[in-house]
Amino acid sequence: MGKKEIKPNIYWVGGVDWDIRNFHGYLTQRGTTYNAYLILDEKIVLVDTVKHYLFEEMLARIREIIDPTKIDYIVSNHVEMDHSGSILKILEYATNAKVITSTQGEKGLLRHYKKDLNFQVVNSGDTLNIGKRTLHFVHTPMVHWPDNMVTYIPEDKLLLPNDAFGQHIACSERFDDEIGLEILKEEAAKYYANIVLPYGDQVKKALEALSGLEIDMIGPSHGIIWRSLIPNILEEYTKWANHKTENKALIVYDSMWESTKKMAYKLKEGLEDAGIYVTIRSLKTNHISDVMTDVISTKMILIGSPTLNNGMLPSMGAFLTYLKGLRPRNRIGFAFGSYGWGGQAVGDIEEIMKELKWELPVQCTKIKFIPDEDELANVKKIGCELGKLIKV
Ligand code: FEO
Repeated sequence: MGKKEIKPNIYWVGGVDWDIRNFHGYLTQRGTTYNAYLILDEKIVLVDTVKHYLFEEMLARIREIIDPTKIDYIVSNHVEMDHSGSILKILEYATNAKVITSTQGEKGLLRHYKKDLNFQVVNSGDTLNIGKRTLHFVHTPMVHWPDNMVTYIPEDKLLLPNDAFGQHIACSERFDDEIGLEILKEEAAKYYANIVLPYGDQVKKALEALSGLEIDMIGPSHGIIWRSLIPNILEEYTKWANHKTENKALIVYDSMWESTKKMAYKLKEGLEDAGIYVTIRSLKTNHISDVMTDVISTKMILIGSPTLNNGMLPSMGAFLTYLKGLRPRNRIGFAFGSYGWGGQAVGDIEEIMKELKWELPVQCTKIKFIPDEDELANVKKIGCELGKLIKV
């Protein structure tokens, strides 16, 4: 698989990371890509680069099109090393190229590479004429880092937004209509839930800034390029940025001797009796980044852990640390779990839910050692009560 012309004289020249399965803690079960784009005009522009170990792959693709020494500009939309990791290497070829970046981008690149890279800093709204085309730069801070910006090419109705609208999928196809919609929806949701979720307000601002632009193709820096499903992905981003959820429930738990597990399944029965769709995820068998994909669309989150050494199970501690960082809002929470003596885990979980400003309409519940039939019946009743609250 070589370069791919995505618009006349605009090429995808990125790298495909087929084997990566852990992207700083995110389970990338389908691998990913780092997308770089080469624009041929009177000036030659490379937009973003690839992770360092895929440099040769990117270089080979560029060489299919032009001599890399002819590159005039490298646009660095984002400092993070999955996109800037090959910048020094490509500058060894493109020795006269200017690096176009935001103010924060310049600072970030200097911190990463300790070298003046012949920067040309652009403000939001600045343009750069490269011949038949004029590149427009719009800053989109915190989508994903403070330095992020997008590059828009009006003549081609093409938006290159870096991390926004990405998905972690390694494949030979380049466009949304070439792979299954379900896979795409799942991976776009997982990506948003694990990367973009804390920055909903900034996403809203970015969507607003982009709303007046004519766009018929979006080339993110990960995964496939959107051309047929642009309204769909914009609709999803609007929903996610506004923390809109569906009236369903997610139960996340871990268990030592299955008491908390019994409670989890009784809650599920009760919720289902109230007509609520429920997903149940054990932290023994589900990766926290996959659980986040469920969190993003779910109104009610029930979280259970037994108490171990005066606290929650370490698996739950890890999940809640991750969840807290990603800050899902507008949720209804409920904490539960078994205990032997102290029973602190349930209260600790509830505290985190309070920090997240979730509604907690029903008091959390804990059961000593092993629940009996009556206690389980009561847990089921609580589930039903919670289910009715979701619909209100
Ligand atoms: Fe794909 Fe924030 O880097």
